Amino acid sequence: MIEYVFMNGEYIESDKAVIPVRTHAFLYGTSVFEGIRAYYNSEQEQMYAFRVKDHYKRLFASAKVMWMNSPYSIEELEQITKDLLRKNNYKTDAYIRPTLYKSAIKVGPTLTDNEDSFLIFTTPFGNYFDSDRGLKLCVSNWRRTSDNAIPPRAKVSGAYANSALIKTDAHEMGFDDAVVLSESGQVTEGSAMNIFFVFDGKLTTTAITDDILIGVTRNTVIELAKELCIPVAERPIDRTEIYNADECFCCGTGAQIVPVESIDNRTIGNKKIGKITKQIQDLYYDVVRGKVDKFKDWCTPIYD
Ligand SMILES: Cc1ncc(COP(=O)(O)O)c(C=O)c1O
Repeated sequence: MIEYVFMNGEYIESDKAVIPVRTHAFLYGTSVFEGIRAYYNSEQEQMYAFRVKDHYKRLFASAKVMWMNSPYSIEELEQITKDLLRKNNYKTDAYIRPTLYKSAIKVGPTLTDNEDSFLIFTTPFGNYFDSDRGLKLCVSNWRRTSDNAIPPRAKVSGAYANSALIKTDAHEMGFDDAVVLSESGQVTEGSAMNIFFVFDGKLTTTAITDDILIGVTRNTVIELAKELCIPVAERPIDRTEIYNADECFCCGTGAQIVPVESIDNRTIGNKKIGKITKQIQDLYYDVVRGKVDKFKDWCTPIYD
């Protein structure tokens, strides 16, 4: 099957979508991107892309930090995303990767006087974590980059060297992923996902000023918790608090909602998926497939 990519204003075959080796984004990691999921609902024979507008809003926020301008408006990007998915005609869940990048052919890291280009590729996509059990996490000995170094709030490709080190070293030590601390030693998030804990019935996550990427899924979880009348706190979290959490889960577009079984080999709760985690997870999977009317505005239908 031919797979299309949107690049330089055109839908082209993916093997023709290439960039020159001296492209600035390749040399310096100067691109901002989004990861969006589209879910196939086989009963309705419909595909729903999830929170597309919110992802593009975040892309624009990342772009502003990085002196980039999108050649398209948010509405145009939504339409391009829809058209590309339609062309690729998946009948399965898919992942969408829009990227705005510095495309000048030049040596030197300056972001100004350096043109911006935009592309999107898509691919069929299943689960990011291939397991029925909860995640085994460690606390990473790498720190999250800080807001005044490489700001985690902006989704910049070069910043993912940090995530790559965190995830790889966790794997090499036999863990699935890691909890990452900030330079000041407090909890931030996972390698490429946000993290929630339950303490005494209260869903608790780090604050938006705690050196995290402000996840779209994180916000979804907070909204779903409101719907389920579960109290939520966003606040600084210490390392030693988390060993005694009653429940813990990670969340992100890739990860979705994934329970955590242990942190630094200390069992969380009773090892089984917690009650609140399960409630959020069940509702999330219905919402993303367009099955819950109240949240249907988040789901962009792809096929007519
Ligand atoms: C560092 C990091 N934090 C959090 C997230 C979760 O963000 P979202 O829910 O918008 O996918 C991601 C996912 O891309 C990420 O890379």
